[in-house]
Amino acid sequence: MKVGVLTGGGDCPGLNAVIRAVGRRSFQRGHEVVGVRDGWRGLVEDELEPLGPREISGILPRGGTILGTTRTNPYKLDGGVGRVLDTFERAGLEALVAIGGEDTLGVAAGLFEEHALPVVGVPKTIDNDLSGTDYTFGFDTAVFIATEAIDRLHTTAESHNRVMVVEVMGRNTGWIAVTSGIAGGADVILIPEQPISIDDAINEIRRRHERGKDFSIVVISEGYELEGLGDGGAEDEFGHVRLSERGVGEALGREIEKRTGYETRVTVLGHVQRGGSPTPRDRVLATRFGLKAADLVDDQRFGQMASLQGDRIVEVSLKDATAELKTVPPEWYDVAKAFFG
Ligand code: F6P
Repeated sequence: MKVGVLTGGGDCPGLNAVIRAVGRRSFQRGHEVVGVRDGWRGLVEDELEPLGPREISGILPRGGTILGTTRTNPYKLDGGVGRVLDTFERAGLEALVAIGGEDTLGVAAGLFEEHALPVVGVPKTIDNDLSGTDYTFGFDTAVFIATEAIDRLHTTAESHNRVMVVEVMGRNTGWIAVTSGIAGGADVILIPEQPISIDDAINEIRRRHERGKDFSIVVISEGYELEGLGDGGAEDEFGHVRLSERGVGEALGREIEKRTGYETRVTVLGHVQRGGSPTPRDRVLATRFGLKAADLVDDQRFGQMASLQGDRIVEVSLKDATAELKTVPPEWYDVAKAFFG
């Protein structure tokens, strides 16, 4: 078989580990593997490259993706879907492994349903917002980085008696904020799923000060709907606005300082959460997903996605997995709230 592999959407640590696993298992079975450049763009614009044992050697610990990635949406381009199908056929591909989040896998689900494209999916994203899997790879690394940052901010916050606001990624869900906030001992955590007023957040900080704690750590998701804040920047091809441009962390920091008089500083973690080497957990998860995807291809289980359920890697349908976002359930926020103030 000739198997294509693509990585789409925002990059995340562990993509190369998946590519390596898909390659290794496919070679063992005598299949040929072809790399698609820059996500769906490579199929729209016919940019493919051979992916042999040499190309996938030594990439397990490397962040980013050796195949490149974009947020290209073939459904939004004139004749885009037709070009994807043409390239696929002309290149003699017989299967495709699409590694991505809700956007990339949403396209894969559509192409499978509407055009019977023989595609299987692998769930990636630091945001952990994909249904159908307990965890996506990349998330553990992002949480590790955010937690380390919170730990570092603690010591400087305490030395200066300051409030430190930390803005983390996660798009419209609060998985990174709530998990790193719990792990880092944040005093208030603001996530899109559980809106609270600025005054309520400030009251938690005041309570701490009354107890003699003159410093506080506040973690806020980039997608938090803060009172009075605008919508954000330009939309990408999937209709997502660039949330970092809204400056929700800065806006919250200004309000805290204005309303309390406590000196406040803001740190926006940004893309450091996505860069660099994956954690061991992400390397292992990505590797297991990659092997499963290669098995799905071999078994011709197209339209399916590798998924983690409990400790098992299973298959779920791409359609179900991309039907809705996985948000943070209230029980998770309750854990965080037990340590507020
Ligand atoms: O989906 C991953 C993610 O890092 C989000 O957390 C964030 O909102 C977005 O991508 C940033 O996108 P870009 O890299 O295009 O700025």
